[in-house]
Amino acid sequence: MSDWMIELDDITKRYGELVANDHVTLRIRRGELMTLLGPSGCGKTTALRCITGQNIPDAGRVLIDGKDVTDVPTHRRELGMVFQNFALFPHMTVFGNVEFPLMIRGTGKAQRAEMVMEVLKLIRLEVYARHYPRQLSGGQQQRVGLARALVYRPKVLLLDEPLSNLDAKLREEMRFEIRDLQRRLGITAVYVTHDQEEALALSDRVAVMNKGRVQQVGTPAEIYAQPATKFVADFIGLSDFIPARVAALEGRHVVLAINAERISVPAVQGLQAGQDVLLFIRPNDVQIRPAAERRENCLLGTIAKSTYLGDKFDYRVAIDGMEVRVQTHGTDRFEIGQQVAIHLPCERCSIILESGVCPAT
Ligand SMILES: Nc1ncnc2c1ncn2[C@@H]1O[C@H](COP(=O)(O)OP(=O)(O)O)[C@@H](O)[C@H]1O
Ligand SMILES: [Mg+2]
Repeated sequence: MSDWMIELDDITKRYGELVANDHVTLRIRRGELMTLLGPSGCGKTTALRCITGQNIPDAGRVLIDGKDVTDVPTHRRELGMVFQNFALFPHMTVFGNVEFPLMIRGTGKAQRAEMVMEVLKLIRLEVYARHYPRQLSGGQQQRVGLARALVYRPKVLLLDEPLSNLDAKLREEMRFEIRDLQRRLGITAVYVTHDQEEALALSDRVAVMNKGRVQQVGTPAEIYAQPATKFVADFIGLSDFIPARVAALEGRHVVLAINAERISVPAVQGLQAGQDVLLFIRPNDVQIRPAAERRENCLLGTIAKSTYLGDKFDYRVAIDGMEVRVQTHGTDRFEIGQQVAIHLPCERCSIILESGVCPAT
């Protein structure tokens, strides 16, 4: 048995001149929830449709459960799909909607009834079996969508922005519901979203996409703490990027030159002295203190802006023509124009090579 439930092997998909998926390689483990995350138009739906068979890639292969399905039609791939617009039949009851895929598959009547009620129970909608979609809230409608996708026990569940049509609060609740259901069933799932918070909250692993390419694949913690590219760092959260030059390689550390200062950061492979890089750090990992209290791994600057955000302060610190953003929960307050030292804790810093795109795993 293959470890991988789904494999996209060097997929390229074009629409005319446009390359919607550009050498996409992605492996999804059995029982894993993998999210495709990226801005609108980056090729997430295109990749999902290559998995379903609604798209035939121009190059590359698709494997499901170890079998090459590149030329297998959608209805023979054993997949369950959930869509953004719910796509329920308005003239059919909840029961009828969930029963529909079983009818198509020729399942017998008694067994259909049993399977439908079992899945409706699973999502706690059994009392709504005789209701019509218009009588349900958006969240309930999407749970019917989930039930319909799961009723014939597919190998894989595919969800394309399933929560985008719900309001913010419901979206957050439904996240947990989907995650919980996916875990209980142990089903492999591919979840498409442009919402980074949703991706971090839901996923075992996330594939961050941009312009048809996979930029990085990793756990939510990995892509948040060690983004491989500037795009990933920027897309996932607030970021500071400080242009720097490699001054010295010291085993497990690299010393970066930022103007006249020296900042020590964890080493990465393949760096050379003199090379230009970006120092990356999250604004809430930067510490700020009066200039007189500077010590190692500090840069000197001046408070340029200060914004009160309720639970924290957001400062912009001007440092030799650039601005570094700092968010603090501390009780110390700093005034505009004040000279400060910002401390960049070594283990919170990482190096981003501008061209560095890590290979997909
Ligand atoms: N059927 C199509 N015909 C032509 N262009 C398409 C088609 N589907 C998608 N595209 C284009 O391919 C790119 C990727 O689209 P898509 O995969 O839908 O992105 P996402 O789901 O990440 O928003 C976009 O530029 C989009 O306009
Ligand atoms: Mg899409």
